[in-house]
Amino acid sequence: MTDYSELARTLDERIAAAADLATLDAIRVEALGKTGTISELLKSLGKMSPDERREQGPKINGLRDEVAAHIARRRAALETAELDARLASERVDLSLPPPPERRGRVHPTMQVMDEMIAVFAEMGFSLAEGPDIEDDFHNFTALNFPPKHPAREMHDTFWLPVNEKGERKVLRTHTSPVQVRVMQRLNEKLPSWIAGGQEPPIRVIVPGRTYRSDSDATHTPMFHQLEGLVIDRDIHMGHLKWTLDQFIARYFETPVVETRFRPHHFPFTEPSAEMDVRCDRSGGDVKIGQGADWMEIVGCGMVHPNVLRNCGLDPDQWQGFAFGFGVDRLGMLKYGMPDLRDMFASDVRWLEHFGFSAFQAPNPATGLS
Ligand code: PHE
Repeated sequence: MTDYSELARTLDERIAAAADLATLDAIRVEALGKTGTISELLKSLGKMSPDERREQGPKINGLRDEVAAHIARRRAALETAELDARLASERVDLSLPPPPERRGRVHPTMQVMDEMIAVFAEMGFSLAEGPDIEDDFHNFTALNFPPKHPAREMHDTFWLPVNEKGERKVLRTHTSPVQVRVMQRLNEKLPSWIAGGQEPPIRVIVPGRTYRSDSDATHTPMFHQLEGLVIDRDIHMGHLKWTLDQFIARYFETPVVETRFRPHHFPFTEPSAEMDVRCDRSGGDVKIGQGADWMEIVGCGMVHPNVLRNCGLDPDQWQGFAFGFGVDRLGMLKYGMPDLRDMFASDVRWLEHFGFSAFQAPNPATGLS
């Protein structure tokens, strides 16, 4: 009489002692797999006499069921233990502070541009833009630079290779070509609701990138300008001075500004001037609005009659003024950045130091504060 109790006891012990699912599965294969001990016993039933089989059958089947049930219980227990261990090890402490995250900053040039736009928007200027890659006509010819005139070289122009149409385009050397584009739009049949459509008055500012082959502490090959253009009837330099004075006072957040026009030359304005602002350079940085020094801050003038004519406006009916600020330069003055080249060096430490929080950005609706 075969006794299975020894086999049952060993299996029971080993199942109970199995420390993980892999060990348990190895025991299962060993006992119940295709060639497992218990499977072999079941196969042996076929070779037995009917009497023997009647006696052994229930025992072997019972042993198989018992072992299978024990394995299933042990598996459930091991799975629960494994899950508990995982839950314990992967527990998240929601009360811990989050890991520090590097926050992006608004580049000073973009901040200054937003501030300038906010001030001019308060004065009723609207915004215009033009392409960085300009043609010779808009960058020079329409702006009264005579053909072949050395003034075309005065800007250290970046010329592009001659294209398939035989044109030689430029990286615009200033934002003034957008003056031309804005005035030319008057000649297009634009719907009346488009700002500046059909007829003057024009009151626009043009922020944008400009390019000149130049590099030192106060020049970079790419920089930013903000152009202004006003066209209406009976416009004179008094309007220009008032507008610039207002802007400078608002931008530098000082009620006292003293400015002066110094004669200058631009082909596209007549008369032309540079405006200086009173400042104090004693002490390390520049203080605007007081002191014994003057600093050049903007190029400007009355739009040259030739420019008006080139854009299809009759200079006997319409006059205007224009100005062009260096945006990066204004930022250096207000926020004390000593070298213009640092502005575009993409040094994260510099950006973190001089950059602004995105939550402090001014906008045309709320102004500077
Ligand atoms: N475009 C001139 C410059 O880049 C500035 C300017 C603009 C002067 C408008 C007069 C009028 O230097």
